Amino acid sequence: MPTPTSPIGVFDSGIGGLSVLQALREVLPGERFVYLADSGNAPYGERGDAFVQARSARITDWMRNQHDVKALVIACNTATAAAIDSLRDGNPGLPIIGVEPALKPAALYSKTHKVGVIATQGTVSSHRFATLQAAHSAHTQFVVQACAGLARAIEDSTLPSISASQNATQIRALCAQYTSAMGTFGTAPGEIDTLVLGCTHYVFAADALRSLVGPGVTLVDTGTPVARRTYSLLHATGMLRKQDVEMGTAAEACQLFTTGDVSALRHAAEQWLGLPTTCASSAAIA
Ligand code: DGL
Repeated sequence: MPTPTSPIGVFDSGIGGLSVLQALREVLPGERFVYLADSGNAPYGERGDAFVQARSARITDWMRNQHDVKALVIACNTATAAAIDSLRDGNPGLPIIGVEPALKPAALYSKTHKVGVIATQGTVSSHRFATLQAAHSAHTQFVVQACAGLARAIEDSTLPSISASQNATQIRALCAQYTSAMGTFGTAPGEIDTLVLGCTHYVFAADALRSLVGPGVTLVDTGTPVARRTYSLLHATGMLRKQDVEMGTAAEACQLFTTGDVSALRHAAEQWLGLPTTCASSAAIA
């Protein structure tokens, strides 16, 4: 049975969820985390619901059985859309927090009432996304674009075998292709003034996206709201870790696992989160 000293589990199809882990570490500095990158099976966005549901269930079992997690954060929009309901049904008593494209805050920020949304095919074609969009469409026009190949290219950016400059060129070309298909970005009437990053991987392409859509456009992601929601749930259930309990080393406080290339996860953890490479190990989750 988990106790307040148990870790929080976090998973994604790959390294994209590290953007959510970063926000969780900022909002919950006294907590321990176990992160699973299912990079051996990424990307989820082009796989179909049944596959994503099966992987999500398998990973949740691993989080509970191997790490006795006290809460689970699905740091993946695609897995949240496909699997959060079945995971909650199958794991009563375990707080499960998902991520969804931030349509609600974007609709509030937008002055032109025109919001762009980029996400995976799995997310944009889901029933959950259709419901979310319908709920916030009264005063806002959403321009929705599925970005096939972009999560894969961002995933590849951590692989030692891939040329960094060719990969950066590929990411920029994909971002240019998809943003230009959405229309004109800017702050004048009729232009898209807010862009929702509806996939946790895309946070790591924010610089390329910002340079393409221009400085007046607001980019919105979900890391911090999800971290705050996790804090509230743990607080409400008395499951926050006591501050005076010994945290151990950085590698003990934040354990990262991957079903793919461990050197890629080490590189991402060091580069993006400033974590020691000893944090990352392989996990066999068939
Ligand atoms: N990072 C995931 C998301 O937020 C999925 C990327 C993928 O595997 O296609 O949707």
